[in-house]
Amino acid sequence: MYDKILTSLSYGMFAIGAKGATGANACIVNTVIQISSYPMTIAVSVNHSNFTNECIKMSGEFTVNVLSENTSGAVIGALGFTSGRDGNKLSNVRHKILREGAPVIQEDICCWFLCRVVNIVETVTHTIFIAEPVDGSESIKGTPMTYDFYRNVIKGKSPIYAPTYLPEEEEVLDKYVCTICKYEYSSSLIPFDELPDSWICPICGAPKSVFRKTE
Ligand SMILES: Cc1cc2nc3c(=O)[nH]c(=O)nc-3n(C[C@H](O)[C@H](O)[C@H](O)COP(=O)(O)O)c2cc1C
Repeated sequence: MYDKILTSLSYGMFAIGAKGATGANACIVNTVIQISSYPMTIAVSVNHSNFTNECIKMSGEFTVNVLSENTSGAVIGALGFTSGRDGNKLSNVRHKILREGAPVIQEDICCWFLCRVVNIVETVTHTIFIAEPVDGSESIKGTPMTYDFYRNVIKGKSPIYAPTYLPEEEEVLDKYVCTICKYEYSSSLIPFDELPDSWICPICGAPKSVFRKTE
């Protein structure tokens, strides 16, 4: 079997928020799926190593924030490449906290809904939370971001605890990697050296100076 066969699957892009022991936390996932309409049921796959996994197990609830094509790469960088165990990731991301303690992201998302966990399935690496939406937005705004848009338009990557993570493939072009979020700039359009000093990482907003050339 072709070893990258699962890259043919299509996904959306979401931020999952939950109340933790020390406050609200959120992380990026691409694995929210609809299970049924009646009763409204969804599932999401969250890696055992992610702090959000612990927060959802503790509170039994989480928000699904559906990212739009206008949600900035910096939001994905902040929530998808750092852990809530290392500090408050939401400090630079506009959000509100629901009465239940879970965060709703307010950065050009399409919509959000609050879910109550009804079942848990453990795999070797991930927990599948099966949950029912109990509250949410009154409307949907903008175009939902797909995982394909994230990979091919924003040129974003998947970190190690994302289900879609794959070790990098060889490429002949000069590549520069952001030492913060691992975003790779390929010099196929404008050579890296010719980018202005004010240029920043499109994913996490780090300055050009933190980029390193890869071998
Ligand atoms: C595009 C993308 C997709 C991701 N998808 C998932 C996912 O479906 N499940 C998951 O557990 N982590 C996923 N991640 C990884 C988490 O967002 C990441 O490990 C995060 O740092 C966890 O933060 P936490 O420790 O605060 O929970 C994804 C990250 C990105 C950037």
